Amino acid sequence: MNVGWSLLAVIVLLLIPWIGVGVLGLDSLFGIVIPYACFLVFIIGLIYKMIYWAKSPQPFKIPTTCGQQKSLSWIKHSRLESPFTTWEVVLRMFFEIVFFRSLFRNLRAELQGRRLIYGSAKWLWLGAILFHWSFFIILLRHLRLFTNPVPEIIQGLDFMDSFLQTLGVPPVYITDVLIIAGLTFLLLRRLVDPKVSYLSHGSDYFPLFLILSIAITGVLMRYAIKVDIYGVKHLTLGLVTLKPTIPDVKIGTIFYIHIFLVSVLAAYFPFSKLCHMVGVFFSPTRNMANNNRYVRHVNPWDYPVKYTTYCEWQERFRDLLEQAGLPIDDEWCKEQQQTQKTQ
Ligand code: HEM
Repeated sequence: MNVGWSLLAVIVLLLIPWIGVGVLGLDSLFGIVIPYACFLVFIIGLIYKMIYWAKSPQPFKIPTTCGQQKSLSWIKHSRLESPFTTWEVVLRMFFEIVFFRSLFRNLRAELQGRRLIYGSAKWLWLGAILFHWSFFIILLRHLRLFTNPVPEIIQGLDFMDSFLQTLGVPPVYITDVLIIAGLTFLLLRRLVDPKVSYLSHGSDYFPLFLILSIAITGVLMRYAIKVDIYGVKHLTLGLVTLKPTIPDVKIGTIFYIHIFLVSVLAAYFPFSKLCHMVGVFFSPTRNMANNNRYVRHVNPWDYPVKYTTYCEWQERFRDLLEQAGLPIDDEWCKEQQQTQKTQ
């Protein structure tokens, strides 16, 4: 059901610019107005989300740890699994964001008879990394459409991505193949695995179908249905310099379908699960150092609480402590009193 509706939504989205530009000739609406409006929603929506997250109270230290915290000098500290300094947090975030480190440890759990068996499951990590990296490289390569002259680094990236050509293989970008493979895997995983399928909603399928349709229309444009690339560049350069004009030449409806889908993705982004791209930086389980036993963290909105110090407690139960043969730390209490006096 969720799959059907999501697919239908994307098909309807495909038809809108097809009719809008192909039949009604609304090139300016689909080439200028909608992309600008959606980009604005993307920027404002993301900024709103970031402010909202940044303002959320974080009264406790809650980093996710799965390794030895920093303690005594002779116990080996796991710097990435239980970061203690900001630098270690940065390192941990880097590996998480660039290599999806925690996903790499993903496990498969299966019941075999009455026994629960855990096994390695690297496929999800591989599919996710292929998709995200290809998407990122494709976006970077697209900068050639928005810059003039095209920076050398983008030209270099383009060259490396299409290096298969030099081996005599059909001239395809490696990332084009990988993004479609990655997306297909991520989609099939939700469709085929009953456990994942049970947990999947329309909001999981819709972005997958949408991004897949963006990739497919892009690939079609490059390898099958040719568009007027000069016309495209005229339009895209106009868009970034805020002097947009529709070129006199016909670019081709497929281009408008492509950027309409991209525009929808941009406008949908801040309100969807795709925000994890930004959200990961604000995640307290990831961005906090595990130093809560070392540093005293005072909750900024704590009201003054009447509490008993250790020395007061010791004084109160002195007789009982002595009867029980427990140590009395008078030296330390004296030191405490001295420090309090000097403060
Ligand atoms: C979410 C963002 C986008 C994705 C994932 C995406 C994806 C793709 C893919 C996979 C291709 C196939 C060729 C290649 O890899 O370069 C492509 C081609 C293309 N895309 Fe995009 N695209 C995006 C945004 C845009 C935007 C914003 C524009 C322009 C306003 C655009 C215009 C084009 C054009 C003109 C081509 C054909 C390039 C050629 O024939 O050399 N794309 N896109």
